[in-house]
Amino acid sequence: MTTFPIERVRAEFPALAGPHAFLDNPAGTQVPRRVIEAVSSALASAASNLGGAFEASRRADAIYARAHEAMAELLGAGSGGEITIGQSMTTLTFQLSRSLGRRFRPGDELIVTHMDHEGNVSPWLQLAEDLGLTLRWLPFNRDTWRIEPADLAALLNERTRLLALNYASNLTGSINPVAELAALAKRAGALVYVDAVQFVPHGLADVAKLGCDFLACSSYKFFGPHLGVLWGRAQLLRELHPYAVRCNTKDLPGRHELGTPQTELLAGLAAAVDYLVWLGELTGGSDSQPPVRGSRRERIAAAYGAASAYEMPLAQMLIDELRRIPGLEVQGITESNRLNVRVPTVSFTHPAHRNSDLARALGEKGINVWSGHNYAYEVARFLGLDEREGVLRIGLAHYNTQTEVERIVGELRGLIVR
Ligand SMILES: Cc1ncc(COP(=O)(O)O)c(C=O)c1O
Repeated sequence: MTTFPIERVRAEFPALAGPHAFLDNPAGTQVPRRVIEAVSSALASAASNLGGAFEASRRADAIYARAHEAMAELLGAGSGGEITIGQSMTTLTFQLSRSLGRRFRPGDELIVTHMDHEGNVSPWLQLAEDLGLTLRWLPFNRDTWRIEPADLAALLNERTRLLALNYASNLTGSINPVAELAALAKRAGALVYVDAVQFVPHGLADVAKLGCDFLACSSYKFFGPHLGVLWGRAQLLRELHPYAVRCNTKDLPGRHELGTPQTELLAGLAAAVDYLVWLGELTGGSDSQPPVRGSRRERIAAAYGAASAYEMPLAQMLIDELRRIPGLEVQGITESNRLNVRVPTVSFTHPAHRNSDLARALGEKGINVWSGHNYAYEVARFLGLDEREGVLRIGLAHYNTQTEVERIVGELRGLIVR
């Protein structure tokens, strides 16, 4: 693998030219110039509704189709028809949960986890309340920081209708063995809904291999605009009764999409995937091999490979340095031989400091991080943390640098050790 071209990569992101260290990436990433330009150009030339018999509308149609195709490439889906795009992961999940609810009967069981973000908990919790369904809670293992198949097996039975779980945690950063867990749930006859919001910024999702039925993500976490994206099995999407207006299209991909699409953001979404393709071309080669020239999906895979090879050692350095600070406790995987089952999101607590105070002090120094439960409300409670204070979360992306890691660790040392 050639050295990661960090300066070339950073130059793509206008926001990174400023003095701030963006270490708040699990809450939203910065955006490359091509995304900004695609949004702006769509507003200038395609700000019309879809399906019209005129040029601007035809451009909007093309942008719509392109965004769905690009997301199919990114997630390994069969076609753009399997992709539903909406305002956010949370709205899509609430909406789909309502459609699925039409199939469930009182006494049916849903499994949610103590590891998930509220976006993949509350929709199911409220559905269970409305329909008289039984909700079962799947814990994560406090030693491995992941969901263990044996714990899932203990909850599955003939009444289980759905397993909702995350691919990677937005608080601890650990990655679940989703394929294995999905296979168990499918064997029991349950549907599997995967929240991949925190995985997709760091790893190649492959819906064909995972064996799940639905997979949701959010493009503002992977260098795109604020949109949610949901992949679903085409057959299921066709069968499900959509919560949509009566004259909405019955065809895929629009069947489960509500209202007029945000064309300019769809243009930005396709450009975010183009950015990953570009990154794959830039970084995909090795010293002995020319740059990757395969399919767009192969180039995307190369981008993820290069980004991980760069960002995970930085994450390990961050973890090691944080652990040198007396009293600080990392809430997640710390072993260097288990980097392959985590993303570079590192959360910690310190008994003598409020996380909100630390986050504020860092913010004043131009270092962006988040504190609190970060909507991983169940995780904070399961770990016995103060619900409001939660953790201090540092989340790396492939555009961060060793200097930024050194900078935050230095500042934290100053604030904590004093
Ligand atoms: C793991 C996870 N799931 C879901 C969401 C919600 O995504 P959205 O803001 O698109 O609703 C987030 C946002 O932080 C998240 O981290």
